[in-house]
Amino acid sequence: MRVRLSWVLLMACAFVDAAPSVRSVHKVKETISPPSKWTRGDRAPSNAIIELRIALPQSNFAELERHLNEVSDPFHERYGQHLSKEEVDALITPHPDSVSLVDEWLALYGLRESNLARTASGDWIKVKIPISLAEEMLDTTYHVYTHSSGTTALRTTSYSLPEHLHDHIELVQPTTLFSTFKRQATTFHFDKEEKFTQAVNAPPINVPTASGGKVDASCNTTITISCLKQLYNAVGYVPSAKNGNKVAVTGYLEQFANLQDLQLFYADQRPDALNSSFTFVSVNGGLNNQTVADAGAEADLDTQFAFGLTHPIPATFFSTAGRPPFIPDIGETQNTNEPYLDWLDFILNERNPPQTISTSYADDEQTVPKSFAQRACNGFATLGARGVSLTFSSGDGGVGDGDPDPATQQCFTNDGTNRTEFIPGFPPSCPFVTAVGGTIHIPETAVFFSGGGFSNVFPRPEFQNPAVPNFLKKLPKGTFAGLFNPNGRAFPDVSAQADNFKIFFQGTPGLIGGTSASAPTFAGFVALLNDARIKAGLPTLGFLNPLIYAIGATHPTAFNDITTGNNPGCGTEGFNATVGWDAVTGWGTPNFGRLKDLVTGKFR
Ligand SMILES: *[C@@H]1O[C@H](CO)[C@@H](O)[C@H](O)[C@H]1NC(C)=O
Ligand SMILES: *[C@@H]1O[C@H](CO)[C@@H](O)[C@H](O)[C@H]1NC(C)=O
Ligand SMILES: *[C@@H]1O[C@H](CO)[C@@H](O)[C@H](O)[C@H]1NC(C)=O
Ligand SMILES: *[C@@H]1O[C@H](CO)[C@@H](O)[C@H](O)[C@H]1NC(C)=O
Ligand SMILES: *[C@@H]1O[C@H](CO)[C@@H](O)[C@H](O)[C@H]1NC(C)=O
Repeated sequence: MRVRLSWVLLMACAFVDAAPSVRSVHKVKETISPPSKWTRGDRAPSNAIIELRIALPQSNFAELERHLNEVSDPFHERYGQHLSKEEVDALITPHPDSVSLVDEWLALYGLRESNLARTASGDWIKVKIPISLAEEMLDTTYHVYTHSSGTTALRTTSYSLPEHLHDHIELVQPTTLFSTFKRQATTFHFDKEEKFTQAVNAPPINVPTASGGKVDASCNTTITISCLKQLYNAVGYVPSAKNGNKVAVTGYLEQFANLQDLQLFYADQRPDALNSSFTFVSVNGGLNNQTVADAGAEADLDTQFAFGLTHPIPATFFSTAGRPPFIPDIGETQNTNEPYLDWLDFILNERNPPQTISTSYADDEQTVPKSFAQRACNGFATLGARGVSLTFSSGDGGVGDGDPDPATQQCFTNDGTNRTEFIPGFPPSCPFVTAVGGTIHIPETAVFFSGGGFSNVFPRPEFQNPAVPNFLKKLPKGTFAGLFNPNGRAFPDVSAQADNFKIFFQGTPGLIGGTSASAPTFAGFVALLNDARIKAGLPTLGFLNPLIYAIGATHPTAFNDITTGNNPGCGTEGFNATVGWDAVTGWGTPNFGRLKDLVTGKFR
């Protein structure tokens, strides 16, 4: 392939000389400051293969957003009228001029249709080429960068495009994307079995909003499916297996969901679900190895709790390939991008995607180039327009970067100014996903690691206007001035229990915590709400945030408001949980019974 490419390249150069008008001079498209925690090493091997992704502008995203806002607004007459795949594809299809100009540019380098992969709507083009060709096309130089964690990647801090293409290509990656995608389950630890049950003989805890007003005493130290159903007022609710409702969790970074662990978990916490399982869907060759040692704590947590809460709703585990470290000299394409995009390509191409999908992986927002964050966020909006509810864990670092080692915890900006600043996470900072923060104990209080704060990329969406200004007004004057962007998209939106979850991992019970636990938990209750909607003859909920903020403002008791605790980080105490929405726990934790009444009644 390399030989053929260089041959075609010669031909292409000849062609350019003959027709210079098709090619304008290269002009810088994007430049970033060298990212902190990454060290530049050697030039990238020129024959290493890289898979470039080229984003063409979506012709009518503003129109898609208008549809999304209408069908997600519980007060709008179109509420719940989600768009079809064809309707969505038509809105994001790039303009024909963009397509032909980009094709023409690729052809100059010998890249023809058979070398390219396109998304269904044509808004992304993927092409595998040698680094040497990428360097020429983008007038840049790739280097081997090494992260302090040991991860390596082939990247550059600047790239260019012919000037006439600047309006027809939004971004090209991997170039400037220095993310350190990570899972959010932080605190897996084993404890002896006796510890799980020590409090079982104590009288139940009175919780007025719980099912029957009581929660087992053991739930204060060990969270089980039964605890969550009691605490969130869902005891006795029986969902259907057969009404078209589906629930899913995503897996990345070779986190494998173990079927044996799931059976042990069901035997312990959901005996009626024994022998049932989930559908495994491989994205881009993602695996789900089943040897005991391959089980992943994150994947086990996500599947056990999301599916344990929702059984017998049909469940799916998506495993998307791609893992650090990238080994640049083996001539293979690996770890080339944020894997969200691969997953988004896949799911947007599905005719009937699961209506509720939870993800417990994220990056620091500042490590994701703005153009990339915006484009991936638009992808989540597109999925929302199709009627999919997306929950993401809000992060495990409070207002900080979640680095468990305070010595290396850096709340410094990556933009060359090296200012101290809170570190929001992405995707939770994307307004089109539902960010789920964390609580602990009963009565519930904010857990210290609950990720929360304000985006530096996305402005505050309109649906947050009834909530966020009130919270900002309560901050003592001058609090954290310069450390956060008060006009940014604020998160989390909601929260749920996030620590002391009892899972089975590699055959053994243990406790695990993180907003990785709260996101699949909240998703579980959303899937139950969708079940209730379908039974009432109503469409599923789709993009949740406008509904959540409408309920928070008008029926606040549908959430258990969390008013104690805070989320320290960056050498500060972080934000406080307060009455109403706050940047630690959002509107609070779900009261399923009340939410069910609202979504099957007053809010249609
Ligand atoms: C639950 O545990 C927390 C932390 O130990 C404690 O403060 C709280 O009082 C306990 N709740 C009950 C009802 O005992
Ligand atoms: C699961 O399968 C086993 C073995 O076939 C059977 O004994 C058991 O009753 C099944 N349990 C449920 C809940 O279906
Ligand atoms: C998973 O299984 C495949 C196929 O047997 C194997 O090649 C691969 O190394 C395994 N991956 C991990 C992470 O164990
Ligand atoms: C940023 O500033 C901090 C504190 O002054 C310093 O420790 C760190 O090395 C600086 N980072 C960069 C990339 O300059
Ligand atoms: C949090 O609450 C404490 C105690 O009331 C108060 O001293 C502090 O200023 C508050 N912090 C913020 C950021 O609101």
